[in-house]
Amino acid sequence: MKFRCTLKRVVDDSYDIEIGRGLQGRLTDDLKNGLAGKARKFAVVTDSNVEGLYASKITDMLREAGFSAEIFVIPAGEKSKTRQMKEFLEDSMLEKGFRRDCAVIAVGGGVVTDLAGFTAGTFGRGVPFVNYATTLLAAADASVGGKTAVDTPLATNLIGMFNQPLKVYIDIDCWKTLPKRQLSSGLAETIKHSCLGDREMFEYLEGHIEDILAGDAAACEYIAERNCDIKYRVVMQDERESGLREILNLGHTVGRAIETVSDYTLLHGEAVSIGLAAQARLSRSFGFMTDEEVARVERLLERAGLPVRIPEGIDRGALLKKLYTDKKVRDGKLRFVLQQGIGGIVQFGDNDYAKRISEEEIGAVLETM
Ligand SMILES: NC(=O)c1ccc[n+]([C@@H]2O[C@H](COP(=O)([O-])OP(=O)(O)OC[C@H]3O[C@@H](n4cnc5c(N)ncnc54)[C@H](O)[C@@H]3O)[C@@H](O)[C@H]2O)c1
Repeated sequence: MKFRCTLKRVVDDSYDIEIGRGLQGRLTDDLKNGLAGKARKFAVVTDSNVEGLYASKITDMLREAGFSAEIFVIPAGEKSKTRQMKEFLEDSMLEKGFRRDCAVIAVGGGVVTDLAGFTAGTFGRGVPFVNYATTLLAAADASVGGKTAVDTPLATNLIGMFNQPLKVYIDIDCWKTLPKRQLSSGLAETIKHSCLGDREMFEYLEGHIEDILAGDAAACEYIAERNCDIKYRVVMQDERESGLREILNLGHTVGRAIETVSDYTLLHGEAVSIGLAAQARLSRSFGFMTDEEVARVERLLERAGLPVRIPEGIDRGALLKKLYTDKKVRDGKLRFVLQQGIGGIVQFGDNDYAKRISEEEIGAVLETM
């Protein structure tokens, strides 16, 4: 005997991204107006730095608005983005009486939004979540697009799920308290977006990078909007990364590998910056970029306060091996997304945006760095 389980899925995962300053009140108003449906109990997930800066206030505001809210704090830093920390959050939430009728509010940078989004996706088989992004990196990339994940000892972001938030709040005021190194780290994904899809934005960054670092309001708003625009245009066409979305991986093959090999002494954006320089050099070796274009990319990254060379102390052999943990690897072969000039990506076939690269080819490029 056999049964056919007919389960057709029609999903509307659309959501708003609100960019502005001091959006805490907007968040509570939205929840009062039914953003999270019937949920009245909120788990505010944050880290030890953001707790005192923003998350406690948000928790208080939720309580004042008549909701039940508890704050759950993880130690700040990439080393908290683990399965163990997910388990800690789950157990703490269960202990505090959270069940399927709750929602998660992630308040923090990419570590918090990645971890909280993944936790929300499996807690009680899935509860809704909202991202309140407090870093430039989360605003530029991590909080938008629905990828959630944890790191493992082998590599970053290998375990996770696609899980779209109910809404994303990008609070530019929060960037004022970001340490300079973190602001620079966030600029790496911003520069990546311009390299792969927006020549005009690249030129704007060339003209305004110091303004952004100095917190100039108009420049910060410009990049917040352009980042979301580029990411949205790509994710809308290929949410599950079956092809086009791979272009957002520009610079991440070497970037993710070096981030792990450095044992997270390099911040995500710093690692991506070195990866962007590596892919640009690789792209030049195939004639997709000129010497001058590669120099422009590296100069912009450096002006943003980012590294473009492999730091002393990185084991280059280990780095080459680590490249094989990249999710783009197919049939055991390395694949790289490559930049075409400034503001473009090389397409290698129908819905194929990554080129097979031999270990010798990328090894030769890394030798120059
Ligand atoms: N899901 C995605 O699509 C995606 C995309 C890009 C990056 N990521 C992930 O994002 C993570 C990196 O994000 P990140 O750089 O935001 O890391 P993060 O969350 O660790 O934040 C960086 C640091 O800044 C602190 N901080 C946060 N907001 C602050 C504020 N307003 N003022 C002062 N300090 C503040 C944090 O406590 C932390 O120490 C990585 O894990 C990366 O893999 C995910």
